[in-house]
Amino acid sequence: MKILGIETSCDETAVAIVQAHADPAQRILANVVFSQIEQHQDYGGVVPELAARAHLEYLSPTLQQALKHAHLSLEDMDAIAVTAGPGLIGGVLVGLMTAKALAMALRKPFLAINHLEGHALTPRLSHDVPFPYLLLLVSGGHCQFVEVQSLGRYRVLGSTIDDAAGEAFDKVAQLMNFDYPGGPALEKAAQQGNPKRFDLPRPLKGRPGCDLSFSGLKTAARMVFQNFPHPTPQDINDIAATFQLAVVDSLINRAEHAIQMLSAPVDHFVVAGGVAANQTLRGQLSTLCGRQGLTFVAPPISLCTDNAAMIAWAGLERFSLGYTSDLGIGPRPRWPLTDL
Ligand code: KG4
Ligand code: ZN
Repeated sequence: MKILGIETSCDETAVAIVQAHADPAQRILANVVFSQIEQHQDYGGVVPELAARAHLEYLSPTLQQALKHAHLSLEDMDAIAVTAGPGLIGGVLVGLMTAKALAMALRKPFLAINHLEGHALTPRLSHDVPFPYLLLLVSGGHCQFVEVQSLGRYRVLGSTIDDAAGEAFDKVAQLMNFDYPGGPALEKAAQQGNPKRFDLPRPLKGRPGCDLSFSGLKTAARMVFQNFPHPTPQDINDIAATFQLAVVDSLINRAEHAIQMLSAPVDHFVVAGGVAANQTLRGQLSTLCGRQGLTFVAPPISLCTDNAAMIAWAGLERFSLGYTSDLGIGPRPRWPLTDL
């Protein structure tokens, strides 16, 4: 079984082909991601209209590239899967209409996939992780703890009450004049810095539940930064290290709570989303899991950040169970996992 996946919900134009295979290493036949980062860099964030236009321009060549890479044609696909939300509506529309057109023209089954479900099922694509498991989804747009019970059954244990962690990384990095998205550059600076030089809050630490908050921390980091009209590289590194540690501490504390909140025991703790690339976060989550007797799973970075392989895979899991979607379905800018 081969599934074509299309992802256009943010600033990545992505097309992938996955197949059912016992060996995870043999599942991805093509995984092409065209990142629009350069188009948005001057604005310090994703501009929805620019993104939608870029998706329109790049989706066709990205599709051609994926087919070429897999040495397959559209006729070889068993179904077409596409992100139908949540995300920036203009971009989602481009992907969704393209997928519907393909499905109609080729007379192939069609699957409208929730982007968050794509992230949530990725550890099954990369590592065959069995249900149920605990997921921390931590990216520029999303930040939540999810009890993944089975396909389509997700219990959100807690989520951010303001900014996503990646967004906070990007905003603080912007103060430091790092290019958007600044998370990776901030991590690099933090590696040279002293995380104890300043005092930053640990939002919601110790409070009941596992909700997260990063907006106050972001502001606190800005206040520290304002004390340095002419920061030296060491000042920048120290603020970066202090900020990164505060984010990680806060995520670890909330993760401890999330583990307590599970409705049934799990064996695996999984992290996904762009911020999962952060080595300090990975290290501390892995230590936490060791303490709690859980197996820590982090999919490869290329599958943690936005991609279409995760959408094709969610399509494959759904199609294998007999699900398909109606072609009448529209784009959904908001679409919580709990609605599945
Ligand atoms: O999942 P993703 O590619 O896109 C969505 O937001 O959906 O995540 C991108 C986010 C950006 O905010 C980026 O700064 C952050 O992930 N990020 C990192 C690192 N690498 C990417 N944040 C901290 N440390 C990193 N190494
Ligand atoms: Zn995402």
